Amino acid sequence: SDVKPFVLDFDLVSGFCTSGKVKPTQRRVSDMVAQFANETAARAMVEGGDPLLYEFYGLDLPEDDSGVLQFGTTILYPGKVGEEYFMTKGHFHTILDTSEIYYGLSGHGMMLMETPEGQVDWKEIGPGEALYVPGRWAHRSINTGTEPLVMFFVYRGDAGHDYGTIEEKGYRKLVVERDGKPAVIDNPKWKV
Ligand code: 6PG
Ligand code: NI
Repeated sequence: SDVKPFVLDFDLVSGFCTSGKVKPTQRRVSDMVAQFANETAARAMVEGGDPLLYEFYGLDLPEDDSGVLQFGTTILYPGKVGEEYFMTKGHFHTILDTSEIYYGLSGHGMMLMETPEGQVDWKEIGPGEALYVPGRWAHRSINTGTEPLVMFFVYRGDAGHDYGTIEEKGYRKLVVERDGKPAVIDNPKWKV
């Protein structure tokens, strides 16, 4: 490709590109009401000011080149919708077998993963931990802590995002607070 070498700054704690060279995409509760188990609680939060759930950086790199690596940070805020922790939408990659690496910078959370065949897995992630999400595994980040969960990510630049499958079916599992601790439970709204 004709991309030239470049340097970007991402703050090690906040995850933000403080120089402002790139701008994050933001998602609010209103962007994903139907993804939460308690849609009534989600709608009430939208009415009450529609809090910011997370922001993430994506770079303006070619999307049709398997040699490109896309990278940036995700900043996922702490909070809950009902008893369910703030989370990202989650997706499969359109090129299903493309993998992704996350590196925890600050905060604590979980990556909830599943395959189209119905394997499920979840891993805790915190500062200094690198998480490998293999190809075929849908991935959703969840903030189970009290500080923003900040992670750096890298994936093949032509991988693409399949949001539709998760929007239609949901995840097989949810992460909720039970007795003050995170618990992974079956998603009652999951559709075969
Ligand atoms: C990706 C990464 C990551 C992700 C963000 C936001 O493939 O782009 O997994 O950058 O997009 O963490 O999560 P959603 O894309 O699921 O909203
Ligand atoms: Ni991804």
